[in-house]
Amino acid sequence: MNDAFRPRILEGKVAVVAGASSGINLGIAQHLCRAGARVAILSRSAERIEVAARAVSPDPAEAIGFAADVRDYDAVSSVFSRTASRFGPIDIVVSGAAGNFHAPAAQLSPNGFRTVIEIDLIGTFNVLRASFEHLRRPGASLMSITAPGGSHPSMFQSHANSAKAGINMLTKCLAMEWGPGGVRVNAISPGPIAGTEGMARLAATPEREALLKGRLALRDYGSKRDIADVALFLCSDNSRYITGTVIDCDGGSALGDASGDALAPPALAAGKP
Ligand code: HXC
Ligand code: NAP
Repeated sequence: MNDAFRPRILEGKVAVVAGASSGINLGIAQHLCRAGARVAILSRSAERIEVAARAVSPDPAEAIGFAADVRDYDAVSSVFSRTASRFGPIDIVVSGAAGNFHAPAAQLSPNGFRTVIEIDLIGTFNVLRASFEHLRRPGASLMSITAPGGSHPSMFQSHANSAKAGINMLTKCLAMEWGPGGVRVNAISPGPIAGTEGMARLAATPEREALLKGRLALRDYGSKRDIADVALFLCSDNSRYITGTVIDCDGGSALGDASGDALAPPALAAGKP
């Protein structure tokens, strides 16, 4: 459907998206704004977040950007207070700030491990916790951004996978505690998404990209729009009975290696059906 004819199902709603100066989270913020929400976004860099806010909407009455580090609870809390005083009670929160790099555990410094845990896991606690007193209750929908590695081990990702595993559990615990008050909490688990910093870091060459695609059941990267569509579903009434879930939007990543090459029967390997 052409976006011009897409219903503005979030008209009157207010969203905060953390880690939205680029990539998947910026794509989500843009999608929520197109659906009618007023959107506040935050990340560390004042310059990057201002450019991103104008990419969400050129109108400051529809989109505002705040510079805040998710590791700093007071800074995050201030973003929610300022958003609520400007736009009103908050209906939608997306916690997606993250840091990652490839690093064998034996070469990873304690501070490198701690840094990723602090941005991803503690940052997600800070964002969701700081939002709580400003949420529209009942009705608010919160979501964290996790990854297949939060449930399935992979090489050279001990730091990020540990953080994402914590995010999965945090999401479920908050869903239990906050559900009775009318707040839903879910997570989205993207697979490899084209045109992102994450994939630039984790599959930096065309050869690595081809190898990774060949292992996926759907044999291709996803798009930022694929993830934004799941986020839109999670903050719409169509998902009103869904809480505490991790929704995989990952081309089959969570299924494991679907290349089959090494284990194929000899006839198949020779190209015979
Ligand atoms: C090993 C590294 C490293 C690397 C940094 N460190 N980069 N160790 N390999 N490539 C170590 C540093 O040496 C230092 O430890 C510690 O990490 C902190 O580094 P800083 O540069 O001081 O940290 P900071 O400025 O806070 O920056 C955080 C960052 C950075 C994560 C290191 O890359 C960043 O800002 N990233 C944000 C953008 C990003 O990563 N986007 C991709 C998200 S994709 P020492 O001991 O030297 O002090 C994603 C996909 C998940 O999350 C899917 C799979 C699970
Ligand atoms: P990205 O563009 O680098 O996005 C990360 C964002 O987090 C940036 O806006 C960055 O902005 C912000 N950020 C980093 N550290 C921060 C901090 N301490 N405080 C506040 N903001 C901070 O990466 P992406 O690849 O799109 O990833 C987005 C999300 O999807 C992440 O949660 C990632 O783990 C998840 N994910 C991505 C993939 C993929 O294929 N890319 C796959 C699975 C999961 P500043 O630098 O301005 O702070």
